[in-house]
Amino acid sequence: MVDLMCGTASVAEALRVNKFKVIASDIMTFARHHATVRLLLNASPDFKGMGGANYADLLQELNSIAPREGFFFREFSPDGAPLNGERSRQYFSSANASKIDAISKTMNAWRDSKRITEIENSLLRHDLVLGANRVANIAGTYGHYRSKWNKSAANDLELFPSTFITDPNINHTVIQGAAEDVSSQIQADLCYIDPPYMKRQYAANYHVIETIARGDEPLAVGVSGLREWRDQYSNFCSKVKIRDSFRQIFTSMQCPKFLISYSEDGLLSKNELVELFSEFGSVRVSELNYQRFKSNKGGQGGKLNEYVFRLIKN
Ligand SMILES: C[S@@+](CC[C@H](N)C(=O)[O-])C[C@H]1O[C@@H](n2cnc3c(N)ncnc32)[C@H](O)[C@@H]1O
Repeated sequence: MVDLMCGTASVAEALRVNKFKVIASDIMTFARHHATVRLLLNASPDFKGMGGANYADLLQELNSIAPREGFFFREFSPDGAPLNGERSRQYFSSANASKIDAISKTMNAWRDSKRITEIENSLLRHDLVLGANRVANIAGTYGHYRSKWNKSAANDLELFPSTFITDPNINHTVIQGAAEDVSSQIQADLCYIDPPYMKRQYAANYHVIETIARGDEPLAVGVSGLREWRDQYSNFCSKVKIRDSFRQIFTSMQCPKFLISYSEDGLLSKNELVELFSEFGSVRVSELNYQRFKSNKGGQGGKLNEYVFRLIKN
């Protein structure tokens, strides 16, 4: 089974729990870390290179680390002074931003000196992304910070231990890349696709956790401090490009069945999608009536239809 645009990897994880062999992929680095933890581990790793310290010891060390005024403090906290001269941003409290700096620098040092493995690095970065999400001063996504402070942003950033699926089978695969590119490497019985359905690019709306996941210090551009994200641009957010991207996936992946989830609010209508998918085989649609997502900035509210398309290729 494939979860081609896995995001948090919650669907990939559910497939693993149900005993399927899973391939998960996504274009974003944070999604790769989430999928790595949820598919490739069945217990906390050994951290053999860390001189006898185990996972719990390392989290304790990271949680009690001395704060450091670095990139996150400068670019994303109210006491910082962004390099591009914009007014200070408030994605995190100054205390939490400098804690992220200290933790991220330490993880980089462990990774660069090869004291931790790639999978161990993914686990620690996954924990840091989740910890940052709990104290971020945002309304749903990181497209912009909030002008008023969320209550949760005043809490101290803390890394909590992940729990692991104990199923001994960890014969799964995690890939990072554009779905259109990775599809030709994949052979499977069924592929689930949950693409973005609006114009809003994930890379631009989750730039802060992408930076946490990578541990780098990119140029923070504009008022909101966006990192350069064009290399992670998604064709699924473009009405002009989306059709060819779907076609490329269906053509290049060796897979007879696809399940595609989409929303009534999406760039393409139900009928347009049925027409497109029918180029490749028989299509059936299931509809679910849902409460429309309403961020704390407002929004439309009300009900909308969510679709699941089932394509069986000719
Ligand atoms: C709606 S979310 C998926 C949510 C996921 N089902 C979950 O449970 O978290 C869409 C995902 O598609 C990814 N994405 C967008 N365009 C992509 C592309 N061309 N190739 C691979 N992943 C892409 C985004 O990074 C995002 O994680």
